[in-house]
Amino acid sequence: IILPIVLIISAYLLGSISTAVLASKLFNFPDPRSNGSNNPGTTNVLRLGGKIPAAFTLLGDVLKGLVPVIIAKSFGLSDLWIVLVAIAACAGHLFPLYYGFKGGKGVATAMGIFIGLNPIIGLAVLATWLSAAFAFNTSSIAALIAMLFAPFYFFLVTGSGALGFGLLIITALVYWKHIPNIQRILMGTENKIIQS
Ligand code: G3P
Repeated sequence: IILPIVLIISAYLLGSISTAVLASKLFNFPDPRSNGSNNPGTTNVLRLGGKIPAAFTLLGDVLKGLVPVIIAKSFGLSDLWIVLVAIAACAGHLFPLYYGFKGGKGVATAMGIFIGLNPIIGLAVLATWLSAAFAFNTSSIAALIAMLFAPFYFFLVTGSGALGFGLLIITALVYWKHIPNIQRILMGTENKIIQS
């Protein structure tokens, strides 16, 4: 019981580090928490800082999900503990200890979690995101579609109720963080990935 709890706490503390905020300091562009969509994530860093800082942010945020899950798996923990570590990693990104609990929307960290849990299913979720991004040219719509499918992909392929249910919690958290995006989508004012 001590090992999984240490892993859960470490995953939360690692998840709390904001790659987007670090990128804004490192590459010297406006703070993504108070500019653009006010979200410390890859999409907003792409808007404010360009491609290289966006790639840096994506990599960092993906690793925050991927690394804790891979470590939990390497200790041979049960699916339930592994998914609790995953939820903690995502919770760190969404409610970071170091930034007054105001974090990002969790899509990249969730992608890292999916790839860490199962690379093939993770790539299927990524392919879902990419297809929706091409179809709608909107990062949030792609995220909402991919995040909806992810728990079902995992449940159907692995048959693990712990994974299916745990990932559904992550999806619910990501949806909750996307409420402003959902409102903009409904009003037809959501930002496009490539502006025309
Ligand atoms: O990954 C976050 C994305 O779904 C939306 O980001 O900055 O357009 O609110 P943003």
